[in-house]
Amino acid sequence: MRVGFYQFSPEFGAPDANRERIASVLADTEADLVVFPELATSGYLFTSKEELAEAAEPIPGPTTGLLQRVAEEREVFAVVGLPERDGERFYNSAVLVGPGGVLTRYRKAHLFFEEKLYFQPGNTPFPLCEVRGVTIGLLICYDHMFPEAARTLALQGAQVIAHPSNLVMPGRGQLTTRVRAMENRVFWVLANRWGVEERGAKKLRYTGESHVVSPEGAVLAKAPAEGDALEVVEIDPAQTLDKRVTKLNDLFEDRRPDLYRV
Ligand code: ACM
Repeated sequence: MRVGFYQFSPEFGAPDANRERIASVLADTEADLVVFPELATSGYLFTSKEELAEAAEPIPGPTTGLLQRVAEEREVFAVVGLPERDGERFYNSAVLVGPGGVLTRYRKAHLFFEEKLYFQPGNTPFPLCEVRGVTIGLLICYDHMFPEAARTLALQGAQVIAHPSNLVMPGRGQLTTRVRAMENRVFWVLANRWGVEERGAKKLRYTGESHVVSPEGAVLAKAPAEGDALEVVEIDPAQTLDKRVTKLNDLFEDRRPDLYRV
């Protein structure tokens, strides 16, 4: 399976331009699955709920419709972060879209910083779905700080974690995602954004360094801290089915849930 990421710097408040860009990258990429950043259609740094309402869209909606058309033409799958509107509620969501439309949707469960002012936390289970016989799990950005989230997906059979992000703490997510990949023996595709977003008195610098990580925690492809970057690598998802780390140690069989209080 060929998996990869597209790291870029979405333009704030320009959903049409951002989604066209995502669609054109997807159309030009030789891959089975491409992961794009968190809130990739809208930008991240909202200063009011009105701004979010302007940018948010239903699922299915304009972004998933456009991506489905590309997916049908190119027989490709995409994971994209976007602001979702459901009635009067807004979610920081990610979708997995393929030739048949939306395969799954995830509403971010762990909201980071001022996301709490604008979004509802998701309350649905961490989602899994099949792409070409491979089980894909979805998480969004700050979820990386909660080992339970990745573990939940891995215990249910996730082989690849797709992780749209807007990371702002240098080095942290790039470290934890390697650890999460290694401790669960899964592949991990971190699609982070880069650049500075300045909106009124608010300013954030995003850390780039998107990567694809192997079940051993090795970095198979990596983007720089700044700049647009598209990377695709060939992976063998069957590697994730074997959770042994020595002849006598299997990471899942050695767990001691009888001792854990989580
Ligand atoms: C984040 O969750 N966007 C840091």
